[in-house]
Amino acid sequence: MTDLVAHARSLFAPGKGILAADESVRTATKRLASYGIATGPEMRRQYRDLFFGAESIEKHLSGIILFPETLLEKGNDGQLFTASLAARGIAPGVKVDGGTEPFPESPDELITQGLLDLHDRLVEYKKQGALFTKWRAVIRIDGDTLPSSMAIHENAKRLASYAKEVQSVGLVPILEPEVLLEGKHSRARARTVIEETLNALFSVLAEHAVDRASVVLKTAMALSGSESGRVDTPEEVAEDTLAALMAAVPSQIAGIVFLSGGQTPDQATANLAAITKHARSVGAPWPLTFSYARALQEESLAVWKGKEEQVPAAREAFLARLAKVSAALT
Ligand code: 13P
Repeated sequence: MTDLVAHARSLFAPGKGILAADESVRTATKRLASYGIATGPEMRRQYRDLFFGAESIEKHLSGIILFPETLLEKGNDGQLFTASLAARGIAPGVKVDGGTEPFPESPDELITQGLLDLHDRLVEYKKQGALFTKWRAVIRIDGDTLPSSMAIHENAKRLASYAKEVQSVGLVPILEPEVLLEGKHSRARARTVIEETLNALFSVLAEHAVDRASVVLKTAMALSGSESGRVDTPEEVAEDTLAALMAAVPSQIAGIVFLSGGQTPDQATANLAAITKHARSVGAPWPLTFSYARALQEESLAVWKGKEEQVPAAREAFLARLAKVSAALT
């Protein structure tokens, strides 16, 4: 096994998963504002410290995805975040895409940017302590018309170019083609779109000769759209999610992580537990775990509200959710 494959596999240590704490400045500002927290660079640093400084997170976390600015910042303990995470056995990762923009060929869809200066940035991030990376593409469902196959393919091509570049500098790529929850679509439609998106992705990865063994896939679960008026049972979600994955994902990749995508913390936990169980019964070939942002953070942010005196209670809420989510893996 190469070092890269070993790194990728270590993200799937039993009972552990990934915290996505890589919100861009724009997303972090919006997220914090929704809890009445005014932001700037220092408040964003406190926001990261709230989670990274919580006691014993290494029991449940194999990795944390950072936004590039966080690679250079220190926690309240005076240590670089990257150093204190690595010292606790938590791999620091970094979001390397440059966000989305309208896709010129189909302006209601989005395409992810960030390939132009990627190589030089990767070399820097690696020097700064990153061990793995993430690139997010978004796929929007609108009835039977979207996504277009052009948007699926262009996003797949960019994910493949990203993965190739990342592997060439000796880092692990997480490929995240996120099929969005927003919309009126059925769960069956979400399942079909996830399957189509992943089929396209893995055929483009093969054309680009990307080494599958160190690839980590980050995917949405197959869920009824947020405006469909339907809430799926965990068993329904597990069945359709696994059906899409089994049909499209090669057995050789390092593993699959799930995003929470706007589910409540309880839904994201129950659905992960059902997926874990169903994966065993259908003999899914890859290790599975979580890579959540909102579902792990929400309850804690509602307690914290940016107030220093609330940090202990907010960390307690975070640790309680983290324990529940990692228990969903067993
Ligand atoms: P959510 O769990 O909030 O969907 O975030 C995961 C993520 O990394 C999105 O890019």
